[in-house]
Amino acid sequence: MLLLALAFTVAFVLLLYMVSPLISPKALKLAGAHVVDLVHACCLTPALVTGGSSGIGKCIAIECLKQGAFITLVARDENKLLRAKKEIEKNAINDKQVVLCISVDVSKDYGQVENVIKQAQEKLGPVDMLVNCAGFAVSGKFEDVDIDCFGKLMEVNYLGSVYPSRAVIHTMKERRMGRIVFVSSQAGQVGLFGYTAYSPTKFAVRGLAEALQMEVKPYNIYVTVAYPPDTDTPGFQEENKSKPLETQLISETSNVCQAEHVARVIVKDATQGNFNSSIGSDGYMLSSLTCGMSPVTSITEVLQQVITMGLFRIIALFYLGSFDSIVRRCMIQREKSEHENKSK
Ligand SMILES: *[C@@H]1O[C@H](CO)[C@@H](O)[C@H](O)[C@H]1NC(C)=O
Ligand SMILES: *[C@@H]1O[C@H](CO)[C@@H](O)[C@H](O)[C@H]1NC(C)=O
Repeated sequence: MLLLALAFTVAFVLLLYMVSPLISPKALKLAGAHVVDLVHACCLTPALVTGGSSGIGKCIAIECLKQGAFITLVARDENKLLRAKKEIEKNAINDKQVVLCISVDVSKDYGQVENVIKQAQEKLGPVDMLVNCAGFAVSGKFEDVDIDCFGKLMEVNYLGSVYPSRAVIHTMKERRMGRIVFVSSQAGQVGLFGYTAYSPTKFAVRGLAEALQMEVKPYNIYVTVAYPPDTDTPGFQEENKSKPLETQLISETSNVCQAEHVARVIVKDATQGNFNSSIGSDGYMLSSLTCGMSPVTSITEVLQQVITMGLFRIIALFYLGSFDSIVRRCMIQREKSEHENKSK
């Protein structure tokens, strides 16, 4: 009986491997492709100013340019855009390549976003890959975060991904090809202390990506959701200044990544058409744990998820336990110091 079950399992796994190529999308070649990259203004800060760090969006533009793509860079701040353009252009591999810059706020007015995409397509041809990087983070306790912040974050992080995607989808469907990348976050896989305003916007992005993938798959369009960990970017430095102690201690349990590395992984996963894109061992664990009913782009990945999920849930208990104890410790300390202040 056991032998039979074993034989059945082996046959099943073999079968899955055999059909695997049918499921995996064909890779997109970036040479000559038109990539539209939407970034947040602070992502464009020159590397010199911030001590080596630059945003994920800018690094993605550089990575795509290195692979021969034509780039349209979209952000709000025109001056920063032009400075970033100079820096990005240095990475071109041939002199035909173009870095087109257009300034617009991607989360404000859909008509404007549509216009920008039209301009870009007229100059550089139809969009092959769209990268939605516009986003920012705010941390703070639920009751401390400015109430307007909840809406603002949703606007930039969520609508800022909806509008550009909506503007390119028609042409992509017509051409029956394309890639759309959404940049979520590890905070879009797990809700952590201090991220009541930020996390939901990143969860929303994932919901959008899953639903959209089901709609566009027959048109040979593939969606990628990236879940980067804390990454050393100007935006991260900015957010770090106001982080509650708890959030800081929880963040410190994992390493800070370099934007160049994150960009490389995202571009690789997007060109291959992988739905999930994660970084590092924490990222691997989180992606496995939260894969849920997400689209399948690789049978090997599914097998890994099936095998590892239970074990990862056990490991997660230890993480959750240590996070809870950080939060409790901070609360006790805070109450103690308040008490001392009062009695002074
Ligand atoms: C974040 O800020 C804290 C102090 O507020 C500092 O100790 C820590 O090194 C900073 N982290 C990073 C990655 O810059
Ligand atoms: C998620 O994507 C990464 C690559 O970005 C890959 O190494 C990993 O296996 C994937 N994880 C899951 C659970 O699918």
